[in-house]
Order: sequence, then C-alpha cells, then structure tokens
Amino acid sequence: MKVTVVGAGAVGASCAEYIAIKNFASEVVLLDIKEGFAEGKAMDLMQTASLNGFDTKITGVTNDYSKTADSDICVITSGIPRKPGMTREELIGINAGIVKDVSSNLIKNSPNTIIIVVSNPMDTMTYLVHKSTDLPKHRIIGMGGALDSARFKYRLAEALEAPISDVDGMVIGGHSDTGMVPLTRLATRNSVPVSEFLSEDRLNQVMEETKVGGATLTKLLGTSAWYAPGAAVSGLVQAIACDQKKMFPCSVLLEGEYGLNDICIGAPVILGRNGIEKIVEIELNDAEKAHMQESAEGVRKTNDLL
Ligand code: 2OP
Repeated sequence: MKVTVVGAGAVGASCAEYIAIKNFASEVVLLDIKEGFAEGKAMDLMQTASLNGFDTKITGVTNDYSKTADSDICVITSGIPRKPGMTREELIGINAGIVKDVSSNLIKNSPNTIIIVVSNPMDTMTYLVHKSTDLPKHRIIGMGGALDSARFKYRLAEALEAPISDVDGMVIGGHSDTGMVPLTRLATRNSVPVSEFLSEDRLNQVMEETKVGGATLTKLLGTSAWYAPGAAVSGLVQAIACDQKKMFPCSVLLEGEYGLNDICIGAPVILGRNGIEKIVEIELNDAEKAHMQESAEGVRKTNDLL
C-alpha cells in the first residue's frame, strides 16, 4: 500500500506521521515544492520509526511527481492555511490553482489512485477535483466531516463530563463555520441520546463550539490546526487501505441524495478498498433538512467563485 501526501506543512507531516504510526502502509511519499523541506520532514519522521515501532517507509521529495507513481491513495494538503480572522472560503483564490495542478500531476502518475482532499475551502476543492479530472466519483473524497465529528465528540464529552470513548456523534454538511450540521439529536452516550443528559441550551452551545472548532484553534495557534486534521486523514486512509467498510462523514459528490445535486458536501459514507463504497442516507428531521439546504447554498456560493 503506497500513500502519497502532497504538502509537507504541519497538516501533511501530521498525516504522514499518523499513517506511519498505525503501521498499515508500506510506503508514504511526502511531496512539497519547497526545496529539501519534505526530505527533511521525512528523515525526521523516519528517525522516530525505531522509537514508535513502525516499518512504514517515509520518503520526502521536492516536486518530483514521478516518485509518487502508482500510489493507491493520494492526500492533497497543499495550499495556504487560514490565518486568524480568515474564513476557509477566502483561501479559494490561491488554493484552487494549486489543487488543480496537484491533482492533475498525481493522476498522471497514479491513474488508479483514490484522492483525499484536505485543502480549503475543502468542499469546493473536492468539487474542483471532480470537475477538472476524469476520476470516478467514488475515488474523490473530501476530508472535513471526520475532523468536525472528532471536534463534536470532544465538545460533547466536555459538556457531559464523560470520557470521549463513551460518546458518539456525527457532523454532516459543509466544512465551514456556518455550514456544519452537528447532529445533536442523534448523538449518544453509550446509546442513550445526549439530550437525556444535556439541556437544549447546553447542546446548542456544543453545536456552536463545534462549528467554530477550526477558527478557535486558528486564533490560538496563529495558523490552522494540524494534529486532529492529520489524525482524521489517517483514519480515512486506513479505512480504505484495510478495506474496513467504516462509516465516516466525508465530502462526496451528491446526485440526488439529501435532495442535492452537483455538489460536494459532507454526508455519511462507507469507506473501503474502492474508496466510497456507498453514500448512507439517514432520515433527517425538518430542522436538519433545512440546515443541510442552507449549508449547501453556502457551498454553492463558494463553488461559483471557481
Ligand atoms: C480545520 O478545520 C484544516 O480545515 C481544517 O482545522
């Protein structure tokens, strides 16, 4: 199993690190345009191998896509991250050109690859990969919902004063401060709806904290987060590599599901060796449906800027 991660910045390096630590891939190629940068990160990570007990070989390359040839999975993290006060949508001008070039170079060298898009604005960048390449829809996946759901579970556990392993929940919709749809109605603590433990006000607070999860970190860090994004990507990569048939909310091209067409937006999918094996349509109530439609309108506005 060969995985390429494009962009050796904090998010890309974290992806490579978590993938390697989980020890399911034979090789991770880390590619960056900055001379020597990916080579340095790869060497540093390889020097953790004996300490962390993994055998995955991490190779760093400067913009040499021939080294990415025959990758089973390619992760695109390249582009600029947001700065405090910026929305993800504001990054479109610079990141669209980069994501288009990167995906074309990747596919030239790995025509059978599955692409995972992380660059922001993520739903629109995922849509761009659909529009600018010939890859079938099940091989283009946007990473947002897995990360947003992890942040949702963190906030739920905090409110419940419970360990995170007690908590389950999912965020669908767009990966943006206003577009996320945290499904509080369906979230549980050991199968018991969280509404049994938390007031409506507290649940609304959890919802709001989840939606601005990335912005909160960007303010604290001065740039966007990397540990949770890296871990979320590694979960998706592992589900595909190990054919786990695991369910994650991911940005996926919808063709009628959730009443939406010609848009990439977060919905639950089953991930396995073929990429997206299935889109799962769950029954939403009227408020959730309206929230999802509103979220889609926001994503479409950003898509229109392409
Ligand atoms: C985040 O929410 C990078 O969009 C990513 O942290």
